[in-house]
Amino acid sequence: MLLTIQALIFDMDGVITDTVDRHFQSWKQLAHEVGLEITPEHRDQFRGVSREESLHRLLNGLVISPETKQDWMRRKNMHYLAYIASLTPADILPGVVDLLDEADAKGIKKAVASSSRNVHIVLQKLELIHRFDSIVDANMIRRTKPEPDLFVWAAGSLGVTPDTALVFEDAQDGVEAALVGGFHVIGLGSARVEKAHVALPSLEGVTLDALRESLSKAEIRG
Ligand code: G6P
Ligand code: MG
Repeated sequence: MLLTIQALIFDMDGVITDTVDRHFQSWKQLAHEVGLEITPEHRDQFRGVSREESLHRLLNGLVISPETKQDWMRRKNMHYLAYIASLTPADILPGVVDLLDEADAKGIKKAVASSSRNVHIVLQKLELIHRFDSIVDANMIRRTKPEPDLFVWAAGSLGVTPDTALVFEDAQDGVEAALVGGFHVIGLGSARVEKAHVALPSLEGVTLDALRESLSKAEIRG
């Protein structure tokens, strides 16, 4: 049972800011350059998983050399960096800052746990980097989502246990990772997040009290 919420752990892409399409467009650019087939379904398949795993899903069984893999990931990232160059605080998704403010007022810690290697640059552009007590990303952890390591590391770095922390996720792989880690999971958006304890369209207007209530109802329903 969730008695007290001691920490909030946010995924970044698709939760704090909507970079999902920027990732997809960057892969699309690469796919066109190198002659790979890419479909609209890839958009959700790339959510939450690392650059390596995204390429793996795009390759769809095609075998290429490790050097070519590195080169294609580098090129995708160049496209992505060009896309995110224009990010500003106006790109923070609705509800995020209010939730951070509420957490501060209640003495609740906040972390980011993301499969991205671009977390620092994105959070800097959003002017949010100083709002988190801990930032855990794919530069620090080898096994990214759907493995629970990023979230477990984030909880450990905040000094809390998973059962006292809420995870916010927009990706199926991310929801799975947080569930395996033993966290309370809030699924956000339109992708496949129905396994989360509570699923919401967005964080707009969401308060911690409302989340606590929805979580206890979900618990009663079992
Ligand atoms: C996040 C996104 C994924 C992306 C991954 C790696 O988890 O949801 O779509 O593939 O980060 O991002 P990176 O910025 O390191 O290429
Ligand atoms: Mg995400």
